[in-house]
Amino acid sequence: CMASVPADRVPDMGKRELMNLLLLGAISLPATGMLLPYTYFFVPPGSGGGGGGTPAKDALGNDVVAEEWLKTHGPGDRTLTQGLRGDPTYLVVENDKTLATYGINAVCTHLGCVVPWNKAENKFMCPCHGSQYNNQGKVVRGPAPLSLALAHADIDDGKVIFVPWVETDFRTGEDPWWS
Ligand code: FES
Repeated sequence: CMASVPADRVPDMGKRELMNLLLLGAISLPATGMLLPYTYFFVPPGSGGGGGGTPAKDALGNDVVAEEWLKTHGPGDRTLTQGLRGDPTYLVVENDKTLATYGINAVCTHLGCVVPWNKAENKFMCPCHGSQYNNQGKVVRGPAPLSLALAHADIDDGKVIFVPWVETDFRTGEDPWWS
């Protein structure tokens, strides 16, 4: 009778350990799964630490080098790069073949679709609900309530660096709604 006690307890403990393992797994798996996006969100890649600037990245994820970019992007060109907080942001080539000192955030101010550039119409035209923006991203047709956000496109060491735009919106003369 005495001998049956440990015999009983062994499978019992085994079961409890298994339960604990399952429980731990059930808790820790989603927890680690959630940790990654959060870390990613709060520490965006390429945030670089100081200055608040972020190097523009091309479609392959490489830093945009201004001189190289201008060899393959002609006057009037508007091409998407990865900008601040990872937002799709247009780099603009001016008619004098220099890079504009601003980038245009492509996220539609209506419901957030990425707005394509329509070269033939000389406008950004949102495919989702028909909003339109002029060639500097100023809203010219709703339902979008606001112009596309701006970012400074500085050149540092040959590379294009996006810096948050906190000054007056030169297109509207108003304070920026996005900062
Ligand atoms: Fe662009 Fe609605 S999201 S018009």
